[in-house]
Amino acid sequence: MATLSLKAVTKAFGPTKVIHGIDLDIAHGEFIVFVGPSGCGKSTLLRMIAGLEDVSTGDVEIDGAVVNAIPAAERGLAMVFQSYALYPHMSVKQNLSFGLENLGTPKAEIARRVDEAARMLRIEPLLARKPGQLSGGQRQRVAIGRAVVREPKIFLFDEPLSNLDAELRVQMRIEIGNLHQRLGNTMIYVTHDQVEAMTMADRIAVLRDGRLEQFGKPLDLYNRPANLFVAGFIGSPRMNFLSGKIAGVGANSVDVALDGGGTVSIPCAPEGAQPGEAVKFGIRPEHIGLTVNGAGDAALAVTLTEQLGGESYLHGALPSGETLSMRLAGQTRVARGDSIGLTLGEPGFRHLFHTDSGLAFAPLA
Ligand SMILES: Nc1ncnc2c1ncn2[C@@H]1O[C@H](COP(=O)(O)OP(=O)(O)OP(=O)(O)O)[C@@H](O)[C@H]1O
Ligand SMILES: [Mg+2]
Repeated sequence: MATLSLKAVTKAFGPTKVIHGIDLDIAHGEFIVFVGPSGCGKSTLLRMIAGLEDVSTGDVEIDGAVVNAIPAAERGLAMVFQSYALYPHMSVKQNLSFGLENLGTPKAEIARRVDEAARMLRIEPLLARKPGQLSGGQRQRVAIGRAVVREPKIFLFDEPLSNLDAELRVQMRIEIGNLHQRLGNTMIYVTHDQVEAMTMADRIAVLRDGRLEQFGKPLDLYNRPANLFVAGFIGSPRMNFLSGKIAGVGANSVDVALDGGGTVSIPCAPEGAQPGEAVKFGIRPEHIGLTVNGAGDAALAVTLTEQLGGESYLHGALPSGETLSMRLAGQTRVARGDSIGLTLGEPGFRHLFHTDSGLAFAPLA
């Protein structure tokens, strides 16, 4: 078993506070992704879990026991870094076995674990080579292998794929997913790439400026973002936000008069809705419809079309000057300079946020 809890964890480097009190409970066997923009504190948080960085206040607990004072080597964790950090003068086999030799693991046991990891990661033919004679993806597998042989309770990954090209990243993503399936260990994976987060995680922790913005299953974050930040961060192209004012409050909905003209009704729990309050209406690119006759909820002056073959993106401006992106399945004849009519989503796909706090109006259950 390996559960992990963070209890009101903070971190300050001298006078600079970078983690502002994070609570998080991770169950045994979960694949957790920490995601957020550069500098939000992902690596710092991971390093505090690993024991490579002290916590300033709060507790890190593994299997219910506080480990704040336990040195990194005794926490039963293994970390894979973006830089791989392989020993250049040692062979792949030596890189894999070195840590275990230092721990005094018996030779036969080391051989068994190295063989097993090499087979699992398909690096058996490379065992005699030095890291300099490997491709980036092969080096990455060796770095993962070095963590695997330690048979840790929890794996920690810090942006392990960011040095790889797009194709290899997709492949390694699948391999790490398979590894998780096979080993069933708890894994924590740091990335700034929301696609990696969506595809790999059981649950995602979205961080910003040292705070936890939301923690949940990928599609829950996508379908029910708790605030403007998560709504804008998860999903690509990002959710569109249009400014408006509350025009009417129903029992299970709020009507919003958009600053750019027109009114939309958003199904949601209307608690706290004040007529006249400034709000942001949110709608994802794939939920906007193209009307046949140019009618609809809004008119868009198209400034850019991107044709990817299987899908197309249209970007443009509304009469208010606000920009909007929409996604169409397949290919389109719409071109730059065209004016098109839009429908702003089925009601169930509409989101509403308080402009001041950024918090979402709660969706209906
Ligand atoms: N040793 C340090 N001394 C002072 N500030 C630090 C130190 N290490 C990190 N920081 C600051 O803490 C904040 C969080 O850094 P961290 O490396 O955790 O971010 P990150 O989310 O991993 O970013 P990236 O995606 O760029 O790797 C940053 O503002 C960084 O400048
Ligand atoms: Mg980092």
